[in-house]
Amino acid sequence: MARRLPSIKETKKERPGFKDSFAAFRLIPRFAREIWKTSSSLFLINMITRLINAFSPVVVLWIGKLIIDEIIGIVNSGSEDYTILWNYVLLEFLIVLLTDVLGRVITLTDGLLGDLYANSSSVAIIQKTKEIGISQLEDAVFYDKLERARTQTTGRVNLMSNILNQFQSLISIGSLIAGLIFFEPVLIVILVLSVIPSFINEIRFSSASYSLARSWTAERRELDYLRYIGANDKTAKEVKLFGLTDFLSDRFSRLSDEYYRLNKKLAVQRTAWGGFFNMLGVLSYYGAYILIIYRVLTGMITIGELTFLSGSFNRLRNALQGFFGRFTRITESALYLKDYFDFIDMETPPPVKDPLPIPDPIKEGFEFRNVWFSYPGSSHHVLKNVSFRIKAGEKMAFVGENGAGKTTLIKLLLRFYEPQQGEICLDGININRFERETYQQVFGVIFQDFLRYEFTLRENIAVGRIEDLPDLERIKRAAELSLADDVVRELEEGYEQQLGRRFKKGKDLSGGQWQKIALARAYMKDARVLVLDEPTAALDAKAEFEVFERFIGLTRGKTSVIISHRFSTVRMADRIIVLKNGEILEEGTHEELMENDQLYAELFSLQASGYQ
Ligand SMILES: Nc1ncnc2c1ncn2[C@@H]1O[C@H](COP(=O)(O)OP(=O)(O)O)[C@@H](O)[C@H]1O
Ligand SMILES: [Mg+2]
Repeated sequence: MARRLPSIKETKKERPGFKDSFAAFRLIPRFAREIWKTSSSLFLINMITRLINAFSPVVVLWIGKLIIDEIIGIVNSGSEDYTILWNYVLLEFLIVLLTDVLGRVITLTDGLLGDLYANSSSVAIIQKTKEIGISQLEDAVFYDKLERARTQTTGRVNLMSNILNQFQSLISIGSLIAGLIFFEPVLIVILVLSVIPSFINEIRFSSASYSLARSWTAERRELDYLRYIGANDKTAKEVKLFGLTDFLSDRFSRLSDEYYRLNKKLAVQRTAWGGFFNMLGVLSYYGAYILIIYRVLTGMITIGELTFLSGSFNRLRNALQGFFGRFTRITESALYLKDYFDFIDMETPPPVKDPLPIPDPIKEGFEFRNVWFSYPGSSHHVLKNVSFRIKAGEKMAFVGENGAGKTTLIKLLLRFYEPQQGEICLDGININRFERETYQQVFGVIFQDFLRYEFTLRENIAVGRIEDLPDLERIKRAAELSLADDVVRELEEGYEQQLGRRFKKGKDLSGGQWQKIALARAYMKDARVLVLDEPTAALDAKAEFEVFERFIGLTRGKTSVIISHRFSTVRMADRIIVLKNGEILEEGTHEELMENDQLYAELFSLQASGYQ
């Protein structure tokens, strides 16, 4: 497949300009508030130690000047009194010692704050994902945003220490500048002229590299995916059998080489220009140095002041360069911060205004009235003018070929999506008049693509009603009902057995065993409506029959919906709806449909003959 990759020119087009870079700075106060919230005491300790350490360079330089002038004074006068000199030396020693200790406190609190913030932002992302509609989660643009927010945790932690460093550096710079202005204001002018160009250069390149990374989100996702398929226990069987390794690695190399090429170009340019502007800085330093030496020779300043000034100038140049370098790094990561906040601020479906209470018990049941539906971003109607009822206490079954729209029906019933036309009612009330979460609590649902959690077996069942995780009796009962207790008996560690292969001592199960466990989840909660969307496809015919016999027996008088391909199961339902291409073809009991002698009867005979 030929695929177009965004070239460097194209990434330039969508590159955030200076304006965007600076706009991202506005997020920093909010960022600081979030860090403050993780631990105000650590944050305070960090800030205070930084504040103290910020003055250390200028103070040490100043004491250095005093020491040298004192020595020269002593030498010139032949005095024997060294008390002041030794006091200066002691003072400098103590300050250097203190700076070192405080520096360690800063590193420590930086690290701890970083850990806390990484944790709290990860939790925020997980929590936010909960509020987001399924339809948004399935959207590619949205997914990219989530991906950026999720993977940039370390970037945000670095951003934090950069910002804190910047605060400290700003104060250091201020104090050094004050010293220089006092003795030699011209030096400041030289400095500014030498540092500004390299600063502008840095910003230019940092926004370029950000937009390159950003415009490649989709490709990096593909790279991750290829890496996953290429080297993974779950895919190994097919990949080996089909001999896909070379295909996958070629595809991977093609993508990653292109990215490497673009990235390299940028990195080389950045280094070259950076080196050039840095030379300007070195030149200016020597210019300033000559100026100061000249002042000493003409007796305008002392030797001590010479060391102070040249030391301050050099320090200041480094500090400014550090400051601007950090500034661009902050700009870069602040743009990533924007992705994170964009995600956290994403609009979620608004809460229902004046929600109605859910009927309890359900009297009439559910009704689909002329429902039309297509997935977001697609014009294909998956459901076309669908109308039917699920009466309270009734066992409904849906049959139909793959892609007929059965799962979509369930997703609409559960309010994961809204129909474009028509309405879905519960006891005559449109379901969007209920509070979404409360409404969804009415259902116990096991989907076709249920999750195989790499947790213990006990936890795998308890997810059906996680607050009952400590209630082993309830979990055991659910396992008996779904026949999962057979699985438990085979496992050495029973309910505490770790499942899956990702973690130590994990045991993987067969598809059918997983399905029994997933089914047990449905029995965990006393749901008023049970929905099973083909969760038994991997069970053999006999096991599925048993499972459903039990299910039907247990749910007597309860509303339930089953989707299955096995007619031996389907025929147990009170009423059956046959779907084809998003339309209802037939509806009735097994006997009625057989009499009708259309698709249902045809498929039933087909399958029945297969079993004979
Ligand atoms: N998330 C989705 N986005 C877009 N189209 C989808 C999505 N899920 C399913 N479809 C499409 O909707 C149709 C019905 O799918 P589905 O309801 O899963 O069928 P069934 O469960 O009967 O096999 C299919 O054509 C499928 O391709
Ligand atoms: Mg389906």
